[in-house]
Amino acid sequence: MFPLSRLVMRSPCRVLTRVGAALRLSGHALHGRPPRVYGIHDRQASQCSKPYYITTPIFYVNASPHIGHVYSAVTADCLHRYKLLKGYNSRFATGTDEHGLKIQQAASNAGKEPLSFCTEISESFKHVFQRCSISYTDYIRTTEQRHTRAVEDFWMVLQSKGFLYKGTYEGWYSTPDESFLTPAQVTDGTDSEGRRIKVSSESGHKVPSWNNSPCSIRGPHHLNTGVCKHAEVVWPGVTDSVCKVEWMKEDNYMFRLSDFRTEVLRWLRSNPKVIRPVKFHDLVLQWLEDDDIPDLSVSRQKSRLQWGIPVPGDPEQTIYVWLDALVNYLTVVGYPQNHAQWWTAVHHVVGKDILKFHAIYWPAFLMAAGLPLPRMIYVHSHWTVEGKKMSKSLGNVINPLDAIEKFSADGLRYFLLRQGVPDSDCDYYDDKVVKVCNSELADALGGLLNRCTAPSLNPAQLYPRFSNTCFPKEENCGKAVSDDYRMMEAVSALPVVVERHFENLNIYKALEAISACVRLTNRFVQRHAPWKLDRKEDQQWLDTILHVSLECLRMYGILLQPVVPGLADKILSRLGVAPEERSWDSLNFLRRYEGGDCVLEGRALGPDLGVLFSRLERSPVKRKTPKMATTQDEGKS
Ligand code: MSP
Repeated sequence: MFPLSRLVMRSPCRVLTRVGAALRLSGHALHGRPPRVYGIHDRQASQCSKPYYITTPIFYVNASPHIGHVYSAVTADCLHRYKLLKGYNSRFATGTDEHGLKIQQAASNAGKEPLSFCTEISESFKHVFQRCSISYTDYIRTTEQRHTRAVEDFWMVLQSKGFLYKGTYEGWYSTPDESFLTPAQVTDGTDSEGRRIKVSSESGHKVPSWNNSPCSIRGPHHLNTGVCKHAEVVWPGVTDSVCKVEWMKEDNYMFRLSDFRTEVLRWLRSNPKVIRPVKFHDLVLQWLEDDDIPDLSVSRQKSRLQWGIPVPGDPEQTIYVWLDALVNYLTVVGYPQNHAQWWTAVHHVVGKDILKFHAIYWPAFLMAAGLPLPRMIYVHSHWTVEGKKMSKSLGNVINPLDAIEKFSADGLRYFLLRQGVPDSDCDYYDDKVVKVCNSELADALGGLLNRCTAPSLNPAQLYPRFSNTCFPKEENCGKAVSDDYRMMEAVSALPVVVERHFENLNIYKALEAISACVRLTNRFVQRHAPWKLDRKEDQQWLDTILHVSLECLRMYGILLQPVVPGLADKILSRLGVAPEERSWDSLNFLRRYEGGDCVLEGRALGPDLGVLFSRLERSPVKRKTPKMATTQDEGKS
């Protein structure tokens, strides 16, 4: 015997808001409409509830979207949808990073005017996000006027507080990373023709041989600073074929980053969960403790970089693209006038390659500007493809639109979140997507829904009645067996488990737990084989088996909404669960077991919308059986 009521979850806001959130999130399969991507006005409906603000990094527009980008976006989308279900007033921002040398060069290589080049790629990100059901509330482009104003204001605040000074920077610059490299980050290497060149020791990007001057640090400023964006991403033997790292010597504005080392350290030590997973928190602490944190160059000479925001009052200088880009998070929420309410609720999702920018530079900039620091920085690792880094030169970049075509948006989303282990890199290949989706979505979940709603078992097509005589609280007194009680315990504990994993960015663990429960429910149905029961004598028990199974499916449908919104909607609509009955607070599993009422009992099921998830075809080439992500995978990198 176990009290289900103990496990019912509470969310922080009023019913009206929860209903609103559920309505906004549900896909409305009941009414035959596709899930919607909602906009700014939805927020006004729930202004009374607690704010939550989640961001993705803004994406460079020098190349088309790939599955790595989609992974950042799907992760943030999942957290946003989850928070809405919990009753938060959640805002979710994404967009494109459009300034800087690399965009300037990409536009010029494409023979296009920079802004129209940016618009084209930015639109392609929007299109991919729409196809992937990324339900952002705000889309920002750094070429927008509102952003220029925010960056100028931010710059002037830093300047007025004395954190900027003019100096000379001399050292290496990596254009692909838009990052300054220290001498230790540059090493000797050879190009494809055997010529001696300088190579970024961390990213593998090559330094042009005509620029092979020795690296030196001049003057009092420790000017050679910055980190390589690919600092944690080393793929031995893989280098880009074009030379992208260059020697530079310029007069720049410098930010007094070194002044903030102690304060950033103190912030991290007193907020041990601010960067998740903890492995990345520890990494940042280690950087701050072990490495030199010199001042940071925050502008480039206009002669080198025109495509950017001019330094206020000094048009010969352009603001460094990373300072420009980071301020986007403030622009979205109305900085410098109206940001206060949202800013205290900001959470960032970032890939591990841009951790230092978000965990050291950004907090230091914010401290300097006198603004609150991020509530959370969620860090994820990277996707490789068939064991190799995705790269244009290798021709293995996965286009998300192709993947959606093959696997559907929900299939791709499920795969990325089910297999994506934030602690370590994950490998993508088509057969693995097929295997995961077929076994967990088509067979296990789809099979369960199909069995339990089949007209042959449930000719009346009503939500069946539960019988306490067949499934009493005391074990061994009815028809339920011990394993049935264990399954009920597992399913009623599931919301707490899923919540814990979502909060820690272990979405794959939440999905693993749901998948384990789906297996238990399938075994429950198999064990009691309702199709073999005699309708005259065993109708009550048959109905009870179906009621319990549908209750399990209702739980899975609600819990899966942040991950696979389309499939979750199909499940819930088939069960006849109304949009306002899909919030986290509706996760009151099997109320009839405790003697409570079940509003669904006796209600008509929804229309049969066909197969939940069609089995995917495997590609003809045979591969070894992939290993599924499990909790064991944690920390394997
Ligand atoms: N523009 C900067 C971010 C500025 S935020 C103020 C940038 N852009 S990016 O387009 O290069 O990367 C955007 C996101 O995509 C990052 O979170 C990055 O980690 C993620 N990914 C890029 N390649 C990836 C994989 N191969 N795998 C997973 N995520 C990857 O950095």
